[in-house]
Amino acid sequence: MKPDNPEICTVPPDGKPMELQPQWRQDFPIDWPQDHYVARRDFTKFLVLTSFAFSVGQFWIAFLSLRQKAEPATRVKIGTVAALPVGKSLVFAYPGEHDKCVLTRVEENTFTAYSQACTHLSCAVIPEPEKGRLFCPCHEGAFDLKTGQPIAGPPRRPLPRIQLDIRGGEIFATGIAPEERSL
Ligand code: FES
Repeated sequence: MKPDNPEICTVPPDGKPMELQPQWRQDFPIDWPQDHYVARRDFTKFLVLTSFAFSVGQFWIAFLSLRQKAEPATRVKIGTVAALPVGKSLVFAYPGEHDKCVLTRVEENTFTAYSQACTHLSCAVIPEPEKGRLFCPCHEGAFDLKTGQPIAGPPRRPLPRIQLDIRGGEIFATGIAPEERSL
């Protein structure tokens, strides 16, 4: 760059053009016009990098959610029909070892299973088959034992229902039913 360039007001001590100066002198110019130029350049760089990082993040989230949907439901044995009398319940883990669920034999041939985490603030619900409900002691919430829909207290969403497959006297969890909206 020439010293008479209006963008350049000072001449570097060694008299060489700015593009031959060390990087630190180019990055920290002492002239306002050049300083503004560097600030604009850095700001543009910042915008491009942030947009890029944001796009990568969005693609990663989309990828994870697609992968999750594509994963086949796991089939896990819960117990046997013979070991669960009518009106009794059984706690089991599904789909992960920390996801507590509760299976209840409501009638001779009717079994229901739900996540045990209350949809209000995740306290563990307690089956009360004699009252036809699952009760949450934290804020006195209650869910219908046959449908999982909230019937009392603060919960507004139904309990996630575990899909069951009963064959040969054995009970299996096969997936989590899509959320059913309360009426
Ligand atoms: S956590 Fe269940 S009602 Fe509040």
